[in-house]
Amino acid sequence: MKALILSGGKGTRLRPLTYTGAKQLVPVANKPILWYGIEAIAAAGITEIGIIISPETGEEVKAKTGNGDRFGVQITYILQEQPKGLAHAVKIAQPFLGDSPFVMYLGDNLIQGDLRLFLEYFQKQDLDALTLLCPVANPSAFGVAEIDGEGRVLQLLEKPPVPPSNLALVGIYFFNHAIHSAISAIQPSARGELEITDAIQFLINQPKKVAARQLEGWWLDTGKKDDLLEANRIILDTCLDSTVLGEVDSSSQVIGRVEIGSRSQVINCTIRGPVIIGSDCHLENCFIGPYSSIANQVTLIDADLEHSVFLEGAKVVGIHQRIVDSLIGQRAQLKVAPQRPKAMRFLIGDDSQIELV
Ligand code: TTP
Repeated sequence: MKALILSGGKGTRLRPLTYTGAKQLVPVANKPILWYGIEAIAAAGITEIGIIISPETGEEVKAKTGNGDRFGVQITYILQEQPKGLAHAVKIAQPFLGDSPFVMYLGDNLIQGDLRLFLEYFQKQDLDALTLLCPVANPSAFGVAEIDGEGRVLQLLEKPPVPPSNLALVGIYFFNHAIHSAISAIQPSARGELEITDAIQFLINQPKKVAARQLEGWWLDTGKKDDLLEANRIILDTCLDSTVLGEVDSSSQVIGRVEIGSRSQVINCTIRGPVIIGSDCHLENCFIGPYSSIANQVTLIDADLEHSVFLEGAKVVGIHQRIVDSLIGQRAQLKVAPQRPKAMRFLIGDDSQIELV
């Protein structure tokens, strides 16, 4: 069994962050999204992982993620010159995949729970493809599956105006070698991409054994800001230790689960967890509310915030109106003089600077 993680693509929905960086490297609870997928695959006992990268962000993905040693796996990077679709990514990965069955994992997806159960089901049932499904409130925004009583997939529909079910296709699939001939047989869709849903539909029509299993826990596609903040909230709720390595002065209050990295300084602040703060940060006269993730080298002075993600090197000075639901890019700076607005909501890119004077 091998794994193929898709970490190329355009990331248009997460602009401007994706003008300068890979969306799969945006941190959730201070860890790149992509790494959660690698860890889940490693936990399922799969050690050979191919990662699809793009010319624009591939070097950054490689530099940050490495050869897999830190995860106990072996990573092979596969360059996709253009984002021509999920099935196209499988096509160019064929030399790496060979005839091996594999799990395909979209690098911006996060799920709760164990891949092992699905892997076992895929193997025991000797399936050609296994898709994972999750009930959603707005199925028209997703790929949707119609399934029969035995969990066999009858039909896949991409963003259907009248969905046959509320079961959205999660970005994790198990395939055997049959997927390769299905991909060779399909044509690019109207948007010019080789669609994995078309390839799976081809398998269904043959007919091959295509089944679906419903996820028990949550699933998040972090391709958009609010989904990313939701992922951050859930991960901080479930996977945070209370470890304080940095310095917290006696006029500060730290309540609940809070992680503070080494060499970070906290002066006269109230921090109400769950909150994660990286290393080499400077926080002074701040309120840091629940569900905030603050990366390394962030400076926050006279600032109040909650439910927000700050990337490396960001700086905020003089905002006591609460910053909420915000995603602040690397090295972005926000400086505000007195006479301030009451609420602010941001999605700003790396190196951006906003000064309200
Ligand atoms: P998407 O989120 O569907 O596509 P995208 O990354 O281009 O994003 P947007 O819609 O915001 O423009 O892709 C899902 C995952 O698959 C994501 O991690 C990127 C990756 N991908 C590839 O590696 N190659 C591709 O050709 C495509 C389309 C996506």
